[in-house]
Amino acid sequence: MTNISSKKPIKILAIESSCDETSAAVLEVCHPEFISGSHKEKILKHPSRLENQSEAEVQNDNLNIKILSNVVSSQVKLHSKYGGVYPELASREHVKNIIPVLEATLQQTNSRTQKRKNNLVHKFISSSVSKFSNEIDYLAVTTTPGLIGSLLAGVNTVKTLSFTTSIPIIPVNHLEGHIYANFITDELTNEKTKKRKKHPVHKFISSSVPEFPLLALVVSGGHTSLIYMKDHIDYKIIGETIDDAAGEAYDKVAKMLGLGYPGGPIIDAIASKFLISNSKFLKKSQYFKSKIRNNNLAIEQFGNSPLFPRPLINKNNFNFSFSGLKTAVLYYAKDKKITKNLQAKIAYEFQEAVTDVLVTKTLKAAQKYKVKSIILGGGVAANSRLRNKFKSNVKCQMSNVSLHIPPIKYCTDNAAVIGAAAVYKLLKEKPVKWYDIEAKANSEL
Ligand code: KG4
Ligand code: ZN
Repeated sequence: MTNISSKKPIKILAIESSCDETSAAVLEVCHPEFISGSHKEKILKHPSRLENQSEAEVQNDNLNIKILSNVVSSQVKLHSKYGGVYPELASREHVKNIIPVLEATLQQTNSRTQKRKNNLVHKFISSSVSKFSNEIDYLAVTTTPGLIGSLLAGVNTVKTLSFTTSIPIIPVNHLEGHIYANFITDELTNEKTKKRKKHPVHKFISSSVPEFPLLALVVSGGHTSLIYMKDHIDYKIIGETIDDAAGEAYDKVAKMLGLGYPGGPIIDAIASKFLISNSKFLKKSQYFKSKIRNNNLAIEQFGNSPLFPRPLINKNNFNFSFSGLKTAVLYYAKDKKITKNLQAKIAYEFQEAVTDVLVTKTLKAAQKYKVKSIILGGGVAANSRLRNKFKSNVKCQMSNVSLHIPPIKYCTDNAAVIGAAAVYKLLKEKPVKWYDIEAKANSEL
C-alpha cells in the first residue's frame, strides 16, 4: 500500500518514452488542500469521491506543481542519419536508457531536496522498495499515442515499479502532457517572471495558470490539434490536421533542403537569421505593415503575394493541412541550385506560411468559442516566430484573452509535463494498478 504521510506534499515519478526521448521526472505537488491530511486522503486516495465537488471548486484548484527533477535523454543524433525516427532503433535505445535516466532523475531529486544520505537512488537500487514507496506516492506514464515499441519501454518499466512497490499508476495521453505544460507553476514564479520584467512583450504572456474555458493548440511532430476545454481533463477536439502535422512538415522540408533532423529548430534558426539580415529590404517591401484580413485578424506578411500557400486559412472549419504546402516547397526548389541563400529564403517563407495558418485559425476559434485563455504546447510551440506572432496578435486582437506559452524545455517531449497532467487527472480519476495499463499506438484524447 502507498503510505502517504499526512504532513508531506505528494511526489509523482513520471516517465515519457512515446517517441525518441527517454525522460523521467519527479514532481512535488504543494497545495494547501493536498498537504492537509484529510483532504489528501479524500482526493488522492479516493478521487472518485470528488464526484460531489462542484465545478467551481475544481476550477479553483490551482495546484502548486514543483519540478524536482526532469531528465531527458534525446536520441536525435542516432536518428538524424535517417532523416527521421527509425522506430526499431528508438525502442532499443529506450530499453538501454530508461534505468540510467531513472537513476539520474532520482539523484537530482535528492540534491534538490538535500537528502544526500539514505537517498532515493539508494532506496531504489538497494531494493528497499517499501522505503522507496514511502517517498514516491504515484507513478505516471505516457501510455498513448506514439510508437508502440517506444511506449512499451516506459509502460513496462512503470508496471514493474508498480508491481514491486504497489505504488498506483496514473496513465497519461501524450497530448495531455503538452497541454498541462502550461500548468507547471514553479516556472511561473521563477524564470519566466524574471525574464518578463526585462522584455515588455512578455507582459502578454500571463503569469498565472490558464482560465477555463480555454483553447489549446497542440502542435508537434505527430499532431496539430485545436482542443477546447471547459474544465480540467475535459477535451473537445474542434480541429486537427487532415494530413501531415506541422512538425512533420518542418522535418520534411528541412530534409528536402538538406538541412538535417529535426528540421524544426534548424528552420527556425536560419529563418530568424534571414529575417534579421533582410529586415531593411523586408521593411521596404511592406513586410512590417500589418494586413487586416480573415475576420479582422492582423497577420504580418511579406508583400501581397506570398511565395507559398496558406492551406485552409479561409476555410470555415478549424482543420489544418500541411501536405500541399510541403509539395509547393518541393516544386519551388525543383531544378534550382540550393544555395545557402535559397535555403534561408525557402525556410523563411515556409515558416511564414505555417505560422500564419496556425495563428489565424487558433485566433478565429478562440473568438468563436469565447475562451478566456489560449494555450500552446508541443515541439513546434518552441518556434520563435510562432511564439512572437501569437504574442503580437493576441495583444492586438484579443486583449481580454490570456496567452500561455510554456518555456521551451517544456514544449518538446519530457516527463515533467506528463507528471503535471497526471496531477490534474488525480482530481478526476482513480489511479490504476499495474495490470490495468496498456500501451496503445493510437488513441483519442
Ligand atoms: O512534441 P515533440 O517533441 O514530439 C512529438 O510529440 O512529436 O515535437 C517534435 C517536433 C519535431 O517535428 C520538431 O521538428 C518540432 O517539434 N520542433 C520545432 C521546433 N523545435 C522542435 N518546430 C519548429 N520550430 C522549433 N523551434
Ligand atoms: Zn510530443
